[in-house]
Amino acid sequence: MNLQFKWTLWTANVFLLMNILTGAFGQYAPSAAYATEDDVSTNLSEVESRESGPELEFKYHDHEEMTRYLRAISARYPALTALYSIGKSVQGRDLWVMVVSASPYEHMIGKPDVKYVANIHGNEAVGRELLLHLIQYLATAYETDTYIKWLLDNTRIHLMPSMNPDGFLISREGQCDTIHGRHNARRYDLNRNFPDFFKTNTKQPQPETEAVKEWISKIQFVVSGSLHGGALVASYPFDNTPSANNIINAVFQNYAHTPSIAPDDDVFRHLALVYSNNHAKMSRGVSCTSGSSRFEKGITNGAAWYPLTGGMQDYNYLWHGCMEITLEISCCKYPPAHELNKYWQDNKQSLIKFLAEAHRGAHGFVMDENGNPVDRASIRVKGRDVTYHTTKYGEFWRILLPGTYKLEVAAEGFLPQEVEFFVIESHPTLLNVTLHSAKRIDGGPYYRPPSLPPRPPPAPSGLFSTLTNSINSFVSNIFG
Ligand SMILES: *[C@@H]1O[C@H](CO)[C@@H](O)[C@H](O)[C@H]1NC(C)=O
Ligand SMILES: *[C@@H]1O[C@H](CO)[C@@H](O)[C@H](O)[C@H]1NC(C)=O
Repeated sequence: MNLQFKWTLWTANVFLLMNILTGAFGQYAPSAAYATEDDVSTNLSEVESRESGPELEFKYHDHEEMTRYLRAISARYPALTALYSIGKSVQGRDLWVMVVSASPYEHMIGKPDVKYVANIHGNEAVGRELLLHLIQYLATAYETDTYIKWLLDNTRIHLMPSMNPDGFLISREGQCDTIHGRHNARRYDLNRNFPDFFKTNTKQPQPETEAVKEWISKIQFVVSGSLHGGALVASYPFDNTPSANNIINAVFQNYAHTPSIAPDDDVFRHLALVYSNNHAKMSRGVSCTSGSSRFEKGITNGAAWYPLTGGMQDYNYLWHGCMEITLEISCCKYPPAHELNKYWQDNKQSLIKFLAEAHRGAHGFVMDENGNPVDRASIRVKGRDVTYHTTKYGEFWRILLPGTYKLEVAAEGFLPQEVEFFVIESHPTLLNVTLHSAKRIDGGPYYRPPSLPPRPPPAPSGLFSTLTNSINSFVSNIFG
């Protein structure tokens, strides 16, 4: 490692830490961090005028350009944005996330965090650029657009433009249908690399996947979209199907493409429709090429299209209670740059409206008799066989369509409770639940909640580099 390389690495890390620290303590303006940096690759005034002026260019940004752009934005809008890295790709590129919110550095208690992840397949490049445009749009519209102001005042939006920067590097503009660049640098498909609820995933966990798993275990995301290319459809869980017990099932699952219905199928369909209906043409369900699938209303159940093991959306939902759907936003995986403006116009409304869905349904706090939050209480909506958990602030969110429901709340040491509630269309239902201690008068053991369906174990620790660990500890401080 030569000195120049070391220096660049060092300045990059110092930048990141300073960026996080400045937000946490509010002492140094990010521009001050820049003033001390003499790394030639970050000439802020130059970058600002070129990259983050009123219009971000409609072109593809390589990793370095993207990094400069993200830094420039976080310097220009320090009250609305915060840049952090959740780890590194196989080849050492940062997995950047930009938060856009009126509270970029701190979780707003009682208000949802949401996210988009793009470019998980390195050659599916449109989403990557759309998220860069979304960042700029949200940051500039805050002052002028009352809806965007409301959204950012009440939501923290985390945007990861590229989960696979190494794959993107070798992908080529104009290649619509190849798989060149799809995988990470070790040739793993990252959207087949997550733990799977239905089938054992034997694929070796990759650094990009581990970073995302760690990230979503630290922040309770309420809704999420994973941006892909190669089709025009909003696809929702489940992506995988239960193991086939007999040959007939196996035949059905592999060839007939039967849907795999999630407990929240109605909600997932709704979320997919929000994206599709707000898109310029997705809901028309036009097939990309003659012979490729047509999707009624522009939505599909994942497994009904084709089943897959190790996908990110099933994992988000079943492990972390985050309602993620997969958004296929371009027939051509890596279309020419001059088409990017059109993709942005087609998707802009969808991208925004989908995230606002985090405010639908019921949310609230689970507390003990003294008003202290109950962490990791289990939250179940009767009739929906999926368990969510409260955060350390006792918060929970449950996106639901209008109707009457029963919430079952349980936590160790407390009597389980059932609460009936209703959800209306126009605004979320606030639901505070107080749990009563189940300590027995005779000093016997605490009540234990009935055993819940098996929940796959959390990711093993120790897979992060020391550097990532130190950054993550900062991240958990400000986000936790
Ligand atoms: C940064 O870029 C601006 C505009 O191109 C230029 O005027 C200035 O001299 C540059 N500064 C450094 C330190 O390179
Ligand atoms: C619900 O609980 C939260 C957190 O303790 C509190 O801020 C809020 O005022 C409560 N709302 C109602 C309606 O009780």
